[in-house]
Amino acid sequence: MNEYEDFLRGLPALIDGLATHGHVVCDDFLSPAQTAALRDEGAQRLAGGEFHRAGVGRAEQQAVRDEIRGDSVRWLDPQRRAPAEQAYWQRIEALQAALNRELFLGIREGEFHYAHYPVGGFYKRHLDRFRDDDARVVSVVCYLNEGWQDADGGQLRLWLEAGEDAPQLDIAPRGGRLVLFMADRFWHAVLPATQPRWSVTGWLRRAG
Ligand code: OGA
Ligand code: MN
Repeated sequence: MNEYEDFLRGLPALIDGLATHGHVVCDDFLSPAQTAALRDEGAQRLAGGEFHRAGVGRAEQQAVRDEIRGDSVRWLDPQRRAPAEQAYWQRIEALQAALNRELFLGIREGEFHYAHYPVGGFYKRHLDRFRDDDARVVSVVCYLNEGWQDADGGQLRLWLEAGEDAPQLDIAPRGGRLVLFMADRFWHAVLPATQPRWSVTGWLRRAG
């Protein structure tokens, strides 16, 4: 059975989930081999000094704030894709086309970065859409952590309604898992982990 065809067959359920709840979790967006390859590519780039500490705020106002977020990132270059990155883009592009076709989200492009949280790293409660920029429509997080255990922590915490007392959903960053949520609606945080935590994180955007 062709792996990519299986993936395509799973897309309608993903889109239904997003349409119904505004967020959805897909456990095998990437195969174990793709997950490992993408993680290795990220680790090589990290070792090669290609990452930088992630900032808080938009473009010119970006600043590193240890008390808010502890990850380092490396943006994917759409013009120069390593094979493992190409496999990810291919799936993301199929997802983007399906979202536009079924939900009319008007997505034009994606922006993605590797994110590496060292042990103990976290990202405090925040919203992905900037006050002065509403181009980010859907937040997309794909985890690259093989063999992750619940006891390792590092959950993505989603607040399901407005307000800090709203019900929360904690999602473990298991390898191959993809999480989608509407960027303007969901406050979320990354909890500290006992292992280094890897993902490719990004946003599907309408014309900005
Ligand atoms: C982010 C973020 C969530 C995660 O990078 O903005 O919220 O689970 N990431 O890594
Ligand atoms: Mn976020």
